[in-house]
Amino acid sequence: MPPEISLTPVPAHARHGSNIGQPLTRRDGVLKVTGAARYAADNHPPGMLHAVLAVSTIARGRVSFLDVEAAKAHPGVVEVMTPANRPRLAEDPDAKLHPFMFRLELLQNDEVRYANQAIAVVIAQTLEAATEGVALLAPKYETQPARVGLDASESFVPAAVGVGNPSAMHRGDVEAGLAAAARRIDATYETPMQYHNPMEPHAIVAAWDGDALSVDTPSQGLAMAQGRIAGLFGISPENIHIRSPFLGGGFGSKGLISGPQLLGILAARLVGKPVKLVLRREHLYGPVGHRSASRQRLRIGADGEGLLTAIDHRAKVASSTFDDFFEPAADASHTLYASPAIATSHEAVRLDTGTPLFMRAPGEATGSIALESAIDEMADACGMDPLAFRLKNYADVEPISGKPFSSKALRECYARGAEHFGWSKRPLAPRQLRDENGLLIGWGMGTATFPALMFAAEARAVVRGDGSGVMETGAHDMGQGAWTAFAQIAADALGLDLDRMEFKAGTSDLPDAGIAGGSAHTATAGMAIHNAGAAVIAKLADLATNDQRSPLFGAGNAGVIARDGRLFRRDDETRSDSYADILGRAGLAQVEARGKGAADPAAQSSYAMHAHGAVFAEVKVDSDLGQIRVTRLVGAFAAGRVINPRMVRSQIFGGMIWGMSFALHEQAIMDKRSGRTLNANFAEYQVPVNADVPSMEALMIEEHDPHVNALGIKGVGEIGITGSAGAIANAVWHATGVRVRRFPIGLDDLVMPRSH
Ligand code: MOS
Repeated sequence: MPPEISLTPVPAHARHGSNIGQPLTRRDGVLKVTGAARYAADNHPPGMLHAVLAVSTIARGRVSFLDVEAAKAHPGVVEVMTPANRPRLAEDPDAKLHPFMFRLELLQNDEVRYANQAIAVVIAQTLEAATEGVALLAPKYETQPARVGLDASESFVPAAVGVGNPSAMHRGDVEAGLAAAARRIDATYETPMQYHNPMEPHAIVAAWDGDALSVDTPSQGLAMAQGRIAGLFGISPENIHIRSPFLGGGFGSKGLISGPQLLGILAARLVGKPVKLVLRREHLYGPVGHRSASRQRLRIGADGEGLLTAIDHRAKVASSTFDDFFEPAADASHTLYASPAIATSHEAVRLDTGTPLFMRAPGEATGSIALESAIDEMADACGMDPLAFRLKNYADVEPISGKPFSSKALRECYARGAEHFGWSKRPLAPRQLRDENGLLIGWGMGTATFPALMFAAEARAVVRGDGSGVMETGAHDMGQGAWTAFAQIAADALGLDLDRMEFKAGTSDLPDAGIAGGSAHTATAGMAIHNAGAAVIAKLADLATNDQRSPLFGAGNAGVIARDGRLFRRDDETRSDSYADILGRAGLAQVEARGKGAADPAAQSSYAMHAHGAVFAEVKVDSDLGQIRVTRLVGAFAAGRVINPRMVRSQIFGGMIWGMSFALHEQAIMDKRSGRTLNANFAEYQVPVNADVPSMEALMIEEHDPHVNALGIKGVGEIGITGSAGAIANAVWHATGVRVRRFPIGLDDLVMPRSH
């Protein structure tokens, strides 16, 4: 049993109520473990038909023939949707009106842009009939050679990376810093294509009623999905009702509604009946995003004392031939280490693949495994302990911008993590430790960092005449525990016990909760909830303090606090008034108010805002077979206010496991001849299973951040990946003395050099 995460006490000056900070269990936990939770594909409206995608087996060319007659002759098949009969759309699926709009394959023509692209949809009475209908289509193609792999086409400098970041940035003179250095590292690291692989594939049940559309589908961004559907179909967003109460993971792939989900809506339009469309596992390898492969060159200089003189981080990444998303891999070097000169730049190639997309710590995950490896290599070159080297180059202000940090408890993370792990006993040289069975033991570490972002969200709060409350926002719980944390924030904001309050989320008719992404959902929707609660309490306070019959008469709004369904005088807590009495005397059935969550532009321009962490890893390596086992992972993280330590621990563990996956397991293997993914299944696309997951500990370091938002929340969704991947890679080096610079590290890397 891993020990409990340490509770981060809520600082007294920021305490609002009694729910924030409690390690409550998941509100949706029982529903999920008993199977009662209804996921999108569990919905079966009357008369529903089944749709199955026919996907291309080539990566580039055009579809020259589909045997639609044969498919339609199948007794269960109702219709075959192709470019010839696909219902008209109000907007071109290839339009790109803003950077968050991705071009889609919605059967607009016969062109094939990547393998697994939808080329037709078969709609049938049963799933089996639809599947057989797809087989009967027997497509023929005009095929052109596929361009896959980072060297398959001409490279160029993208206009922007990530979501609007400049493709190149620098501070100081990197070449001068390198020239002046006593020691230099010049190393190139490679990371593979990865796919999101949520446990629940993308699925949709769509039903039209005239121009009104009802949709069950997993979404990390309901209002954005609603807006995209509205634009494509030329209907008003209010006519679209999306339910997304449960998601079996998303990891970024459900941030924007995907082509296949929209094809489900088109299929329902075509046949005039409810249609269910569920992606097969292999269908996820193309149309719903992936993480680009990367090749990253890091040149680092340090002086004779081990102080950095320069970091130059250049990344090559890929996008599709028809759209732009560029993994901001080199940007990982902006934040972590103090260096008088830092330069980051990106180049890219266009390949015959689906468009890459944000995937769990986009940029930071890819970039930090390279940066943390290079820093480890430099520490070794300087003859220094990797932790001592990092402390020597600790950034007290954000290196690339020169801004102060809004808060940064990374020193404490290093200290607590190292102590807990027993780092001080680590021999400096590699290949020094063996266990009782002769396995090589290695210890490595990595620094974790992820920006503390906020987007925009809204919530609505109600206090009813009986003293109970409601909090509503269209927030998303992908499994991260968001609804539990939000309900805790809501209860405190409303001054109510959790059981006196309803929390509603997960449907598009509720206020827009923004996107569950960028590790920003708790901060953004949480602040909307906090502000909506404060606004409704202010209305109650207005009523009470202006009412001569109230014990609070004359106290003024600032003179009251809300707790346990009552308002209390701040200066005399023996005087209080219940919500029910306040509303009853005012003759009101309820009061309601809305609140918004958004970043504070003034604070953002003054401060660099990031969560931090330090991860320590132990691996054991069989020196004959090269087999690698992670045996211990200790992470210490500082991410501002912890709303629910149990959910946070789960999030951090998930991140750390993904970091292990990045270092040792995951890769999509592309067939260079066909442009198809060879391992598009859970048997061969390897992710860690329970037996791979070692003893793990996550320690949360108390951190009070007065600038990120009023609740002091930074977010924990993605940071766990960023330190862990590098820590494990560095531990493998420390065990074996072999530095592997291509990920995932395999046993063949440690036994014999690869020939390719
Ligand atoms: Mo994400 S890549 O923030 O779901």
